[in-house]
Amino acid sequence: MVLLVLFALATSSHTVSAQTLPPVPVPPENPITPEKAVLGKILFWDEQLSSDDTVACGTCHLPENSGTDPRVAIHPGLDALFGNADDVFGTQGVVRRNSSGVAIVDPIFGTSPQVTGRSAPSAFQSLFAPNIFWDGRAGDIFVDPLSPTTVLIPNGGALESQAILPILSSVEMAKDGRTWAEVTAKLAGIVPLAIATDLPGDIVSALAANPIYPDLFNAAFGTPTITPSRIAFAIATYERTLVADQTPFDQFVAGDLAALSPAQQTGLNFFTVSPCSICHPAPLFTGDRFKNIGLRDPAEDLGREGATGASGDRAEFKVPSLRGAGLKTRFMHTGQITSVNDAVLFYDPAQFHFPTNLDVAIPIAVPALILPDLVDFIENGLTDPRLAARAPPFDRPTLTSELGAPESVPTLAPLWLCGLAVGLTALGLHFR
Ligand code: HEC
Ligand code: HEC
Repeated sequence: MVLLVLFALATSSHTVSAQTLPPVPVPPENPITPEKAVLGKILFWDEQLSSDDTVACGTCHLPENSGTDPRVAIHPGLDALFGNADDVFGTQGVVRRNSSGVAIVDPIFGTSPQVTGRSAPSAFQSLFAPNIFWDGRAGDIFVDPLSPTTVLIPNGGALESQAILPILSSVEMAKDGRTWAEVTAKLAGIVPLAIATDLPGDIVSALAANPIYPDLFNAAFGTPTITPSRIAFAIATYERTLVADQTPFDQFVAGDLAALSPAQQTGLNFFTVSPCSICHPAPLFTGDRFKNIGLRDPAEDLGREGATGASGDRAEFKVPSLRGAGLKTRFMHTGQITSVNDAVLFYDPAQFHFPTNLDVAIPIAVPALILPDLVDFIENGLTDPRLAARAPPFDRPTLTSELGAPESVPTLAPLWLCGLAVGLTALGLHFR
């Protein structure tokens, strides 16, 4: 290890000179256009995309937390008991509702909002990956949700494959048994972002030109029809514009040697020659592979095996990018670690909870002398300042759920229909 450190300190900064971020891959079937991107931004931030108007994609993926969710939400783990070692710090979704939209008692969460069984990874660090989610189950072949035999994107469609899943998930955004017909009919009849405030300039302009969803879909796709695949195409396009490539590291490799402090450069140099960079290689700081670092008893979560069925993939999880880690409050798929420092210390051999359950290249003991520099490099050297500042393209509306009490939802329906809607809401039928 001493040799490793000496080598690290002696290694000059030009070892990383060629490592600028590659362009975001864009599948030819879904080219980026401004109309699609802004429609995707509106959909991503619209709480009305959930059945009960309480959760947007963005609720769980805030730019100022590098696309993750800082709220503390506990899932009790496999044993369904709260307050013991297998609890997971996930993200808060919706109250359980039956297919008519009536709130029902969930066996685990009762009438409180349900919580996901894994933490939210950064939605902004998955633009380059062939498979996304912690277990990679959203693969790069995107199939039309309305026609399982129609492949719409044969390659590079992971963001599209992912985007349709939360909308029908009865934990994250949906009532039980929600259908695409319900989702698309709902969108056709509401005012986009009606319950959000502080709308960013590009959204204001788009809504001024096209005030309702059918108009926005018409501008983006040439006809006003709302379909699940178009929803996915628009959201994925928006996500492909969220490239956090203005980190001090990016400026450093572009030639601004003062962009990283001497301490951060020491951290980078250690990182580059240490086994960290085998799994978290620059410039993405992930190789987008699946690995097992011994975090957890495999019986609690099969990880990648759950998606592939291969026992060799047991308890492997997607290696997260370290970009933006300085803005996260919860680390690892369990959310059980609360700082970059503790995440790095986890690689110390003494820390492993399940030592028989490890991939190669770990454990790694980071020398105490280097640790603060390594943490400084990861926390500050890899974070784009536009994220915390919510500067474009990372600007966003304020959500109703951030303000406290829920507001009533304006609809496009005439007044007598609104009266009917109130009646139906009382029966729970408003929730689509
Ligand atoms: C209730 C919180 C919640 C909501 C709402 C939500 N997500 Fe997520 N998101 C998560 C969690 C948790 C994961 C990880 C799940 C897993 O890996 O099993 C995730 C994973 C992702 C990923 C994969 C990131 C990666 O690196 O693997 C993307 C992209 C993403 N979400 C985008 C979206 C979009 C788009 C929407 C809206 C259509 C959305 N999310 C709605 C919680 C949420
Ligand atoms: C064998 C591959 C491997 C090596 C080597 C490795 N990591 Fe990781 N790293 C992972 C995986 C996999 C995860 C996610 C684990 C999980 O959630 O189950 C992770 C998670 C992390 C996280 C938390 C990120 C987040 O957003 O949750 C940090 C920080 C981190 N690693 C830093 C490092 C550092 C620093 C080193 C070197 C000391 C290192 N890693 C070495 C595979 C690796």
